[in-house]
Amino acid sequence: MSEKKASLSIDGLDEAIELPIYSGTIGPDVVDVQALTRKGYFTYDPGFVSTASCESKITYIDGGKGVLLHRGYPIEVLAEQSDYLETCYLLLHGDLPSQKEYEDFVGIIRNHTMVAEAIARFFRGFRYDSHPMAMMCGVVGALSGFYHDSLDINDADHRIISAHRLIAKMPTLAAMCYKHSVGQPFMYPQNHMSYAENFLHMMFGTPCEEPKVNPVIARAMDKIFLLHADHEQNASTSTVRLAGSSGANPFACIASGIATLWGPAHGGANEAVLNMLAEIGDVKNIDKFVERAKDKNDPFRLMGFGHRVYKNFDPRAKVMKQTCDEVLGELGLEDDPLLKIAKRLEQIALEDEYFIAKKLYPNVDFYSGIIMKAIGIPTDMFTVIFATGRTVGWIAHWHEMITQGFKIGRPRQLYTGSPLRDFPTRATRKPANPGSF
Ligand code: SDX
Repeated sequence: MSEKKASLSIDGLDEAIELPIYSGTIGPDVVDVQALTRKGYFTYDPGFVSTASCESKITYIDGGKGVLLHRGYPIEVLAEQSDYLETCYLLLHGDLPSQKEYEDFVGIIRNHTMVAEAIARFFRGFRYDSHPMAMMCGVVGALSGFYHDSLDINDADHRIISAHRLIAKMPTLAAMCYKHSVGQPFMYPQNHMSYAENFLHMMFGTPCEEPKVNPVIARAMDKIFLLHADHEQNASTSTVRLAGSSGANPFACIASGIATLWGPAHGGANEAVLNMLAEIGDVKNIDKFVERAKDKNDPFRLMGFGHRVYKNFDPRAKVMKQTCDEVLGELGLEDDPLLKIAKRLEQIALEDEYFIAKKLYPNVDFYSGIIMKAIGIPTDMFTVIFATGRTVGWIAHWHEMITQGFKIGRPRQLYTGSPLRDFPTRATRKPANPGSF
């Protein structure tokens, strides 16, 4: 039972409402407000800025200090000393794998990288210029049509094989989106390649030449997947938890996460950063765009800046910036014009009073797009790559919710619509004045 309590006195109530306070391992305490409903009250928190939706052991973020821990390990250490599949194991199972556990896990994932041949026919139903995220929403959700043998969310064996299948097949499906858009044949995964090497091979390889991937680029790709693996209760992860709370199968839940990630305020920001840098076009235009970003009447925002939680730096952005320098150095692109604009924009934003006051720093999306563009990945594929890396985080939270025991998520509201009214005959009605939708 909680030792600490909050006491809420409300005008008109004879007694204050006692609300238990719970403490986590680290981070803010939480006030359990469930008793309010019994007294006829809801809490009100649009955008869930102040709401802890669940208890979790997976990832911890301290936005003020720029801290990101996965199962207690700092993201900087994992980026430097681990790799994506080891981080997947950590997120799923709670601890780093032994050498044998690591090798077994890599082997399991490798054995699930192919997709059913029938999936290839799905892509032929899309226009060649369909947005890859539209294709991913469709084909990932459709995967549940291929695995009737393992959709029981209450069966641990079904949950873990679905996790393995999703982690393994996302790069294959992502590359298929790209190949479909350029009219090239789909490439099969190569079992002798690492996870990131395989993705780059399936993206850029062709049946006309031997598989060959630049190891520096492969390491950068692995790091991009790793830096996107999980991020606490962000919008897409919260969507996956909500979808999962209805008992939906894991493929449908991950498809809902992909759909949510697509938005430019979330995972779509990396694509929006590149579009913004291209729109700025030259360092001399930066000031004009910075002024637009500050103008309340202008919807323009500096994409890649700001974060709901990080009010200091995003530790992932720091690692991503270092990776960006490595990749552009390896490719001889240090003078990339977009990189020049990005670095100048970052410098201005970090010195500008508006951005300092509003604590708007570069986030994970600011540099990732520049790396991916340098690698030759088209802008509309950036969020697909974010989704590929984030799939393990979505699954880890979905699995945690199920094993913790859950109720269906069903928020309430503050209703400000019409009170009860009589139904008028059509002849007696005034014009509805629909206004703007
Ligand atoms: C991701 O949640 C996660 O963890 C997400 C993510 C993950 O790994 O899952 O980290 C990935 O989504 C990173 C964020 C990517 N999005 C962008 O880069 C898009 C640009 N950023 C903004 O849309 C915004 O900063 C958000 C959406 C990221 C955060 O918005 P908040 O926390 O709701 O903050 P806000 O919109 O209330 O802004 C606070 C103030 C506002 O001014 P005031 O109303 O107080 O006067 O800051 C301003 C905003 O106008 N502001 C910006 C700005 N971001 C916020 N002004 C100019 N440019 C910006 N980018």
